[in-house]
Amino acid sequence: MSQATNQSWGGRFSEPTDAFVARFTASVNFDQRLAPQDIQGSIAHATMLARVGVLTDDERDAIMNGLNEIQGEIERGEFNWSVPLEDVHMNIEARLTEKIGITGKKLHTGRSRNDQVATDIRLFMRDEIDVIEVELKRLREGMIELADREAETIMPGFTHLQTAQPVTFGHHILAWQEMLARDHERLLDCRKRVNVMPLGAAALAGTTYPIDRHVTAELLGFDRPTENSLDAVSDRDFAIEFTSFASILLMHLSRMSEELVLWTSAQFNFIDLPDRFCTGSSIMPQKKNPDVPELVRGKTGRVYGHLMSLLTLMKSQPLAYNKDNQEDKEPLFDAVDTVRDCLKAFADMVPAIEPKKASMYEAARRGFSTATDLADYLVRKGVAFRDAHEIVGQSVAYGLKSEKDLSEMSLDELKQFSDTIEQDVFEVLTLEGSVAARNHIGGTAPNQVRAAAQRAREALNALKAGA
Ligand code: ARG
Repeated sequence: MSQATNQSWGGRFSEPTDAFVARFTASVNFDQRLAPQDIQGSIAHATMLARVGVLTDDERDAIMNGLNEIQGEIERGEFNWSVPLEDVHMNIEARLTEKIGITGKKLHTGRSRNDQVATDIRLFMRDEIDVIEVELKRLREGMIELADREAETIMPGFTHLQTAQPVTFGHHILAWQEMLARDHERLLDCRKRVNVMPLGAAALAGTTYPIDRHVTAELLGFDRPTENSLDAVSDRDFAIEFTSFASILLMHLSRMSEELVLWTSAQFNFIDLPDRFCTGSSIMPQKKNPDVPELVRGKTGRVYGHLMSLLTLMKSQPLAYNKDNQEDKEPLFDAVDTVRDCLKAFADMVPAIEPKKASMYEAARRGFSTATDLADYLVRKGVAFRDAHEIVGQSVAYGLKSEKDLSEMSLDELKQFSDTIEQDVFEVLTLEGSVAARNHIGGTAPNQVRAAAQRAREALNALKAGA
């Protein structure tokens, strides 16, 4: 194939790149997604170069105008992406030179694609983190409001997926919210390490031009320039951190999804999800499937996969830049898209969850969920806890045989197991009494759930104000 060598680096080559190799090494089909950040970074770089006298103001203006026009061409879908030009950076630079002539070739002064791409990804990640944060806040708000509304709704709490003790539905939803509050902290912490500027590191060692990295960093809204040029072009920790955040978040969403799937089943029958979040079956007319939570649960796998890809991509890489790093983009893009979609799905769906209160209540009543309350009652009357445990165990065995919940037994029936039991036992055997008695910070009592919802609301608002 009589293809010219790449115009950006062809000078030292005596034969053209093999056609397959050109295709194999090109990244433009996926990294064109970085075009807005690439242009933003180039405009800041040119502005800084003019400020320190490496470019004239006219050259800077020509470059800026050209890049802004290119941005328009890309947005209108008129830009002709070329695989022989390898990547987003060289595509844009070549088009700039086509438009403004020799001045376009001056843009790359004091810069390399190595610090350029590192900058582009960081700008991209910062933008995406900010969008993701908005969805995460919306979801947390939805959960807090749902929890507040359902502070008195009683359901069975589970350990080993066996009915354990009654809890309030609001308390359960606030447990989800706590998981997301930690994810939110992790996201904001990751953003700090994303928002550092590699430009100026050039290929690996820095540049001989009198650049001012503080100016470029400020123009791009970075907190500071990176400290070490070798590290700046090779570091992808921030991508690994983001996918770690994403993996933990999706792990949490998968747990919530699993519970939603269980709860919508006829066997649990705890909640209803509006039809718009469900689909039907092409063969079984009665089916209403909880596809949205199922899909979120399923998508967790690909995000874990991206974390493994990135960790393995970076393992054992010598300093500084290596072409391996080109493989960081697709996992990162997909992780970002998946997180965004899953958060949106949840933020839309959670406020629409309809608890079936009577059914939840009945399930809590059926499972001897106040057995611990009976034991605690006996302890308060002077029985040792181990003995109380045994007495209640016998009462439950009797209840299983006679098909009665503890609260349905007569005082005489209960007295067969302990004389200590009096009429006042029925106050603790009700579900309402059981949840109300767990009246301390972090407990399931309705007034505690309302107070916890209020604290969560305040913490979230404080975060918003601080951001
Ligand atoms: N397309 C490359 C990447 O994504 C850009 C940097 C390439 N640098 C180089 N010297 N080949 O990582």
